[in-house]
Amino acid sequence: MGKEQEKFAKDFGERLKAASKRKVKIVVKDQYKDAMDILSDCEVTDLIPGIIGPPGVGKTLLLRAYAEKSEREFAWVTGDEGIRPSHLVGSFNPAIVLSKGFTLDSFEPGPLLKSMVHGGVFGLNEANRLPEYVQNTLLEPFEERSVNVQRLGRIEAHDGFFPVLTMNPEEMAGAHRLSEALRDRIRVWIRIGYPKKEIEIEIVKVNCPEYKLSDHAIESVYSLVSLTRESTDIEVPASIRAGIAIARLSQRLAEREEEGEVSHGVLSKAASLVLSGALKFRPGVDPEKAVATLIRRALGAGRR
Ligand SMILES: Nc1ncnc2c1ncn2[C@@H]1O[C@H](COP(=O)(O)OP(=O)(O)O)[C@@H](O)[C@H]1O
Ligand SMILES: [Mg+2]
Repeated sequence: MGKEQEKFAKDFGERLKAASKRKVKIVVKDQYKDAMDILSDCEVTDLIPGIIGPPGVGKTLLLRAYAEKSEREFAWVTGDEGIRPSHLVGSFNPAIVLSKGFTLDSFEPGPLLKSMVHGGVFGLNEANRLPEYVQNTLLEPFEERSVNVQRLGRIEAHDGFFPVLTMNPEEMAGAHRLSEALRDRIRVWIRIGYPKKEIEIEIVKVNCPEYKLSDHAIESVYSLVSLTRESTDIEVPASIRAGIAIARLSQRLAEREEEGEVSHGVLSKAASLVLSGALKFRPGVDPEKAVATLIRRALGAGRR
């Protein structure tokens, strides 16, 4: 092995360890607590759930936390036109097939098959964006808890295999429909929306552990992001992530500029840096002006 490869192998090993040690940071209260409970009810009753909610409200995080709580692996796939059944189930590596033939040695399992074999939680994001024939390959695993692996045979899933779909609400009705057959396999629909004020504030705090943000600063960040969710000019409002980013950046700016507290100026600067790319406005709206107006409406004209 060359020097460069050796260093890569060493660092890679460390990164693997780091990932396996990482714990999920999640606020499990209110809608998140309810969703956790229903997930567990679905599992007990053998019903497949779908989680519906706008991007960034914590659907994937919730599944990760659910898997962690029950000490299982978590795998997830995001649907798009390019995904083939082999991306989910796996495929033979042609180079190894040459020497070993079509055996398990030459087979590289995909995330769905791994979850079925090890008994993991399997999150399928935006299943509606998968081509219909790929959606159809999910029917057997979801309904019968079995799957046919070409040339290797049909396996039955481990008891711990738990598939869950996640989707954005607009896409429920949009051009990309979930196939009727797949939709029929999803028996329980869990809705998650933007969290209540106290919960979102707690989420922001949990995600900024190294900063001690004042209540005033966090409240201001919350007023700003919640305002974007009410505006009719905005197609895609600020996510929880955007709020976290504004909170972190404004704290950092305050430290760098040696202001004790996060000031109005620092907050508007951070907000405009984050929001100018985070929001999607209706056609015809000037984003720069709209962001400035939002900041003025949420934070006031300034002076503090
Ligand atoms: N309940 C929560 N507790 C802590 N952080 C959360 C929570 N919900 C959302 N977040 C934050 O929002 C981010 C986006 O969540 P994610 O699960 O990726 O959303 P989705 O899958 O709905 O698009 C997370 O990485 C986390 O920082
Ligand atoms: Mg997600």
